[in-house]
Amino acid sequence: MTKKKCIVIGVTGSIAAYKAAEICSLLKKNDCNVHVIMTESALKLITPQTFFTISQNKVTTSLWNVETWEPEHITLAERADALVIAPATANIIGKLAHGIADDALSTFALTMHGKEIYIAPAMNPRMWENPIVQNNLNTLIQYGYKVINPAKGVVACGDFGTGKLANPQDIVSKILNT
Ligand SMILES: Cc1cc2nc3c(=O)[nH]c(=O)nc-3n(C[C@H](O)[C@H](O)[C@H](O)COP(=O)(O)O)c2cc1C
Repeated sequence: MTKKKCIVIGVTGSIAAYKAAEICSLLKKNDCNVHVIMTESALKLITPQTFFTISQNKVTTSLWNVETWEPEHITLAERADALVIAPATANIIGKLAHGIADDALSTFALTMHGKEIYIAPAMNPRMWENPIVQNNLNTLIQYGYKVINPAKGVVACGDFGTGKLANPQDIVSKILNT
């Protein structure tokens, strides 16, 4: 019997956070073991209950509410095959590019060193075009992160340009086929 892939989804405070539920569902349908880590901002946009029900696993929302003596970010990183941060805010991209680990998701991402990490950004086109964001993404690419580029279209605030989260099915195909 082949081992189930263990995929961790990081959900950040982008208006596209609801699309992470579809990514979670598609990964489950592809027989993956899925764990979800949410940032504090993501909690304002979608509830952990959604991911708990779809993933059938406890959702991590803090570094500190752990039930065992072992730090969860270490034990989960040992089991995980890949981390996908979808949607990824400009903020998490900046934090990861500079090694900042000040919450459960950014700490876990550092712990995933040596494993596959996918970043699927979603943001307003003006944020996306900001050279600070682009430089941070290039830094992550140099460190081996795989960036799944956003699509062009009308974003949630009504602006047109590049910044829409890539199609959830395309994100899942990239994670499972590479
Ligand atoms: C309604 C709403 C939608 C937002 N959508 C986005 C977004 O799509 N992309 C982004 O980079 N930031 C977005 N932000 C800003 C982030 O939530 C903010 O930068 C936050 O600090 C990100 O925290 P996190 O990266 O820890 O989740 C949004 C904020 C609000 C209030």
